Amino acid sequence: MNGIDAARVRTRHFAQAKAEGRRISALTSYDALTATIFDEAGIDLLLVGDSAANVVYGRETTLSMTVDEMAVMATAVAAAAQRALVCVDLPFGSYEVSEEQAVATAVRFMQETGVAAVKLEGGVERAGAIRRIVDAGVPVIGHIGFTPQSEHALGGAVIQGRGAGREKLRADALAVQEAGAFAVVLEMVPAEIAAEITAELDVVTIGIGAGDGTDGQILVWQDAFGLNRGRTARFVRQYADLGEQLLDAAKNYAADVADGSFPDEAESYEDTAR
Ligand code: KIV
Repeated sequence: MNGIDAARVRTRHFAQAKAEGRRISALTSYDALTATIFDEAGIDLLLVGDSAANVVYGRETTLSMTVDEMAVMATAVAAAAQRALVCVDLPFGSYEVSEEQAVATAVRFMQETGVAAVKLEGGVERAGAIRRIVDAGVPVIGHIGFTPQSEHALGGAVIQGRGAGREKLRADALAVQEAGAFAVVLEMVPAEIAAEITAELDVVTIGIGAGDGTDGQILVWQDAFGLNRGRTARFVRQYADLGEQLLDAAKNYAADVADGSFPDEAESYEDTAR
């Protein structure tokens, strides 16, 4: 079945989609132009992810993203999206110090950017912060499994939930649900466990590297559409080759400038007053 059936996607549509067996599509977006296109394509959820650190700013990890940087991108995406629900990541350091800090950051995003929800990483250990943010009236998406902001603590981009990690993953999922999140991202976990958790939870699961048994899927758009020409993870399916297309286009432009064929007369102004 198609994704969420709504003219404007709200948090309540996520539970409805799960009940009706409709799968939810999600993509990252960091700017107005892609948000407009993905929204028009019917993507249900646009995430202004702190993966911007990697695919926008060219940084090694997501750890250096700031609230100010996230807020600029979130404002652009929220203003452009007409239908999709727009969610922003709480960046590293903006919610772990205390529950008060978590609420303050979430409230700031809601006041300043126009997003409809925030996402934060962590399970059992973040349940208190999620509860406080939800109590403040801010919808929350949880994020468990591989959590990039903890990549040093986790020892790199390592698959989570295997073996003894299975029970921890379940406990994290239940804690996030119990705390009031309306959805939870499961990143880089075995498909079988993600499907089990999806069946156990009332709230929606959105997978990235979590197999086909989750309620929805999310990908980083530069990976999915080939703008990222570097190595991508096994779970990425490439739907376009924008990197190669852009390379060709840029080469053609450079050649046209070099040989003087750009601009031509139609691309130039004449002095109509003469
Ligand atoms: O920052 C991000 O893009 C994310 C998704 C990969 C889920 O958190």
